[in-house]
Amino acid sequence: MTRRPFYITTAIDYVNGEPHLGHAYEKITTDVIARWRRFCGDEVRFLTGTDEHGIKVQKTAADHGLDPQTYVDGLVPKFKSAWEALDIEYDRFIRTTDPDHEKSVLELLRRIRDNGYLFEKTYNGWYCEGCEGFKTEKDLPGGKCPEHPTREPKWLEEENLFFKLSAFTQPLLDHIAAKPSFIEPASRRNEVLKVLEGGLDDISISRSKGAVSWGIDIDFRPDSVIYVWFDALINYLTGAGFGTDDALYERFWPTAVHIIGKDITRFHCIIWPAMLLAAGIPVYDRVFAHGWVTTGGAKLSKSAGGGGASADPGYLAATYGPDAVRWFLTSQVTYGRDGEFSLEQFENIYDAHLANGLGNLVSRSVGMAKKYFGGVPDPAGLAPDELLSTACATAVSECTAAYDGYALHDGAAAAWKLVTLCNEQIQLREPWKMAKDEARADELKAFLYGILETLRIACVLLAPVLPGKTAAALAIIGAEGAVEQGLEAATAWGGLPVGIELERPAPLFPRLDQIERD
Ligand code: ME8
Ligand code: MG
Repeated sequence: MTRRPFYITTAIDYVNGEPHLGHAYEKITTDVIARWRRFCGDEVRFLTGTDEHGIKVQKTAADHGLDPQTYVDGLVPKFKSAWEALDIEYDRFIRTTDPDHEKSVLELLRRIRDNGYLFEKTYNGWYCEGCEGFKTEKDLPGGKCPEHPTREPKWLEEENLFFKLSAFTQPLLDHIAAKPSFIEPASRRNEVLKVLEGGLDDISISRSKGAVSWGIDIDFRPDSVIYVWFDALINYLTGAGFGTDDALYERFWPTAVHIIGKDITRFHCIIWPAMLLAAGIPVYDRVFAHGWVTTGGAKLSKSAGGGGASADPGYLAATYGPDAVRWFLTSQVTYGRDGEFSLEQFENIYDAHLANGLGNLVSRSVGMAKKYFGGVPDPAGLAPDELLSTACATAVSECTAAYDGYALHDGAAAAWKLVTLCNEQIQLREPWKMAKDEARADELKAFLYGILETLRIACVLLAPVLPGKTAAALAIIGAEGAVEQGLEAATAWGGLPVGIELERPAPLFPRLDQIERD
């Protein structure tokens, strides 16, 4: 079978501060999708990285008394180690200061220029350094950027290079009409359509070196650097080998799915596809815009202190384990909407779902199988447990539909139903009573096999969200390697090897009162 190429990307984070839980949320959910698609048999390429140029980084570096390169070099390892601590399995970490990126930016610029979409003009207008965005009066109600109310918009007068974005109003409207899935969820698509229906203005894509020196030099315009967003968006092409690795590029472009936050849809759903159209390059597959992780109802942000030490992704991963963070953010936030983080709620979910739900199921089911059969019982000749096997089939189809449709919270919930069901059925059917009655020996065998098999299927469906703990649980029940079998084989009833001796496992999740907290 030939594998389908699937290219998935996150936004690249500005390195003007340390990564916070909002950044982590995006990287985790993208990793969930990437892992799911690998499980489905796709050939996945997962790109993440950092956005390092522009006035915001330049100024922050200066505030630290450092040149920008030294400053970003010092911060990038913090992003990388945060993603490692959260078990994010990307294929490339791109930095916009990487040499191949500079090459690909200049190549794209050349193509757009050759096609006649660049011109010179003086920009007179506002600029928000928080957004790194050119603004009109109506973007700044009360003279403030709604996204960055603590920053003063700057008035600019610069002779700049402009991109004829206005030429792409109709082509973009046509593109979205022909392919609504281009922008998900629908609420974001409607916002973008509104902007398009109002008509697009041409945009400045350079900054004068007098104002911003930290950027990619424009080869044919020595007094300027490329506007940071124009540079940053092209990372998605660079990461697919554009201009440097033809085989990679042929394989993965334009299959890209861009996972981004809802504040940057205009850049991704208007400017970026217009840049590609102008260069004569096929447009990527889709954008999915997620919502905010909030604390106390407010968006987590660098300027608001990133939510404090107790919301630091590195701290949370080190203290509760990466899967706990992944589980909370994926299952408790509706993908596409905002969701609140509080340490209290995080610990409640940890306790209820992980320690008591999944953790408990593993220890009691393995404990009973060991006690009564010494290991996984062999149900040969017995009918499968109807209720459990049916529930598994339902979970597989619900989970597939949900993950495929980017409803990650529903996918997690569909898989989770199996964990809940097993715990309920153990309570209800009381296998310890079956064990006392010789006449019920087959019933006990079929039931306990059913529980362990349901646990196996639950684990493979939960693996994209809980990669570490499901791998541990699968190893405990003698089913290591189940995820690597892929969706079809791994979710077929009866896949759990029988006759394997089981050991009483250490708890899968430590109890909250055993976790040392700062
Ligand atoms: O926008 N909850 O970088 P950035 C969820 N460099 N997501 C959040 C969030 C929160 N509280 N706060 C930020 C940039 N994000 C550009 C991107 S892409 C070519 C260039 C998300 O560091 C935000 O929406 O401000 C964005 O998708 C990502 O984190 C990086 O934000
Ligand atoms: Mg931002």
